[in-house]
Amino acid sequence: MANATLGLFFFWTSFVEMESLIKQVEELMKAPAPKTKDELESFRLRLLSKKGLIGEIFERFREVSGEDKKKFGARINQLKTAAEEQYRTLKEELESQLNAVEDVGMDPTLPLNNLPAGSRHPLKLVLEEMQDIFIRAGFVVKDGPEIEDDWHNFSALNFPEDHPARDMQDTFFIDDDFALRTHTSNIQVRVMESGELPIRIIAPGRVYRNEAVSARANCFFHQVEGLYIDKGVSMADMKQMLLYFAREFFGKDAKIRLRPSYFPFTEPSAEMDVSCFLCGGKGCNVCKYTGWLEIMGCGMVDPAVLEACGIDPKIYSGYAFGIGVERITMLKYDVKDLRTFFENDIRFLSQFRSIG
Ligand code: DAH
Repeated sequence: MANATLGLFFFWTSFVEMESLIKQVEELMKAPAPKTKDELESFRLRLLSKKGLIGEIFERFREVSGEDKKKFGARINQLKTAAEEQYRTLKEELESQLNAVEDVGMDPTLPLNNLPAGSRHPLKLVLEEMQDIFIRAGFVVKDGPEIEDDWHNFSALNFPEDHPARDMQDTFFIDDDFALRTHTSNIQVRVMESGELPIRIIAPGRVYRNEAVSARANCFFHQVEGLYIDKGVSMADMKQMLLYFAREFFGKDAKIRLRPSYFPFTEPSAEMDVSCFLCGGKGCNVCKYTGWLEIMGCGMVDPAVLEACGIDPKIYSGYAFGIGVERITMLKYDVKDLRTFFENDIRFLSQFRSIG
């Protein structure tokens, strides 16, 4: 009786040990593939050598009961074949990888931290900076079509037909009614027409003018349009917002001044200058010794424009502005020739890699 119990206990422990050894083998086979010859060899030793796990399993197998022998036999044979097969595959893979290293003279497993990184286009950097500034002040970004009809590009903005004001902008016409937009002010109209009030938007985008290409002009360029419409908006609000922009963009000491100007869609209209950030206003060749740099057009939205877009000018008022992106990028980064923005010369573009 005692002997029988002892025998049972003995069989039972072998059973448990077999299961645990099999588990260890399975885990080892799931581990990440060896990357060096040494790692591969220790995989082999631990698994397949005489004293390895598989060897131990077969050793133990002799001790299990007849019943369990049937159960384990097929299983451990399969395990052994799978382990040998895996070792062969791993060996082949590793050898071919190591050969590749020798062939090309480099190690493809090394981390890729020296890849040349692309750079961001300077116009994009400036555009994003401008957007960030206005978004912080509560503006939302709007988009609109580059091919535009006469109403949205001109008529709704108070450019009467055959009025000489249309000659302010040389237009690329597509047909009688459509043209490439000459400014992003078309988006003002579209947003106002949509009927949602109040409005506080900026609209960045590309615009087109039929102009001879030179260092200072191009047939397309970029603008950021701004529009703020609510009850009781005044020119003082506009001035404060534009001062905030100038300080955020050009530095906290920036000053601004507004000079009277003319745009059909604003009344009064102004041109805004910022104090020259290079000489601090003393005068240098960038500001042509005036101490000031012109950076945008702006003004109070003309009541006729509000009306054309379905907004009651007796209740609502607002301001608008338009900033040339190339212009302030040239000023900020001292770029002398506007054409360099569009030539895709890596020697120029890569200088902006670390900015931003
Ligand atoms: N649309 C004008 C241009 O292209 C720029 C501009 C000036 C936009 C004054 C405005 C503005 O919204 O108020 O020259």
